[in-house]
Amino acid sequence: MLLATVIIAAGCLRAPAEEADLNFGYALDPFALASIPQYQAIVANDATMVTVENYMKWGLIHPNPSTYDFTLADQIVATAQANGQQVRGHVLVWHTQLPGWLTNGTWTRDSLLAVMEDHITTVVTHFRDNFPGVVTHWDVVNEAFNPDGSRRDTIFQQVIGDDYIEKAFAFARAADPDISLFYNDFYDDFSLAGETLLTGVPAGPGATPTQSDCAQLPKCAATQAMLTDFVARGVPIDGLGFQAHVLLGQAPDYVELADWVGPLGLEWAATELDVKVLSSLGDNSATRSAHADTFVSVLDDCLESDRCDTVILWGVGDAHSWLPGFTNGLFDYGLIYDDDYLPKLAVVKMFERLEAASVD
Ligand code: XIL
Repeated sequence: MLLATVIIAAGCLRAPAEEADLNFGYALDPFALASIPQYQAIVANDATMVTVENYMKWGLIHPNPSTYDFTLADQIVATAQANGQQVRGHVLVWHTQLPGWLTNGTWTRDSLLAVMEDHITTVVTHFRDNFPGVVTHWDVVNEAFNPDGSRRDTIFQQVIGDDYIEKAFAFARAADPDISLFYNDFYDDFSLAGETLLTGVPAGPGATPTQSDCAQLPKCAATQAMLTDFVARGVPIDGLGFQAHVLLGQAPDYVELADWVGPLGLEWAATELDVKVLSSLGDNSATRSAHADTFVSVLDDCLESDRCDTVILWGVGDAHSWLPGFTNGLFDYGLIYDDDYLPKLAVVKMFERLEAASVD
């Protein structure tokens, strides 16, 4: 038993994930990766694919108009390369974590398009050339819709207009013909316990945390319309990322939510999975059991779908989770390792589910 705990504490999910042909792993923090032995061991032994939680974002990687800083992103990508893992790039175009020079600048459609093209081309080609074959996927555009299905009022939307998204995909494809390009968003937490509490944005009509019918979620329906149009017009796109910051016990059925993705010839992925536990409920055997089941339900959906091959968790252990900070302490305990990098029940349950998949 002690041996089993020690083995699991250092990670055990990579081998069954590989057997199951699943890209599985974590969003990483370069400081934790450089300094915490348990974190390094878990990442090496659990993950087949990692992403970068923050340090590929525009404000961090492109702090001045003519300056790029790849130092911290490169550390993560180099570690992944040494570990024989792939990297999912996150994220090229998003409305937050932008540099001041961009948000405070004065732009025309053409000048902002030129800046966006420079940014996407420089970032994608940097990883293409310095780490050949390692960054295999990119989240090209993130969170472009409001809950009611209208476009989010970002600087790109305001200045460039609706076609900023397809332009971003075209720039990414021109920079690297071999990577998979994803639109990434969330469709599962508009509820009172989710986005309303976090941002004051009211829930979309018909939206509940467990809603799995895309047509009933205006934001999902708008995404479906956009991707259908992109495919019809040959805009280069390979898939849809569901962030999957889900609530305890309330993950949607992603197979159902994504049932229109395959017929378009696209893939889907769970790109930022964590399971939000109300802090007031605590981290105890009851919440750990429901927490494990919620993780397995999302994992199950991906394994069951012939259009999903990727599940990425938004962090390794609760010590580095974004949840308590982002939700003012309302939610915590979102990840599968605890504050001390010891495995929760979710690790055991996911191991069992992956093992079952690999003998299927
Ligand atoms: C979050 C990071 O986890 C935080 O550390 C940061 O302060 C804010 O961004 N959707 C996304 C991610 O696509 O990039 C966000 O990451 C979480 C929500």
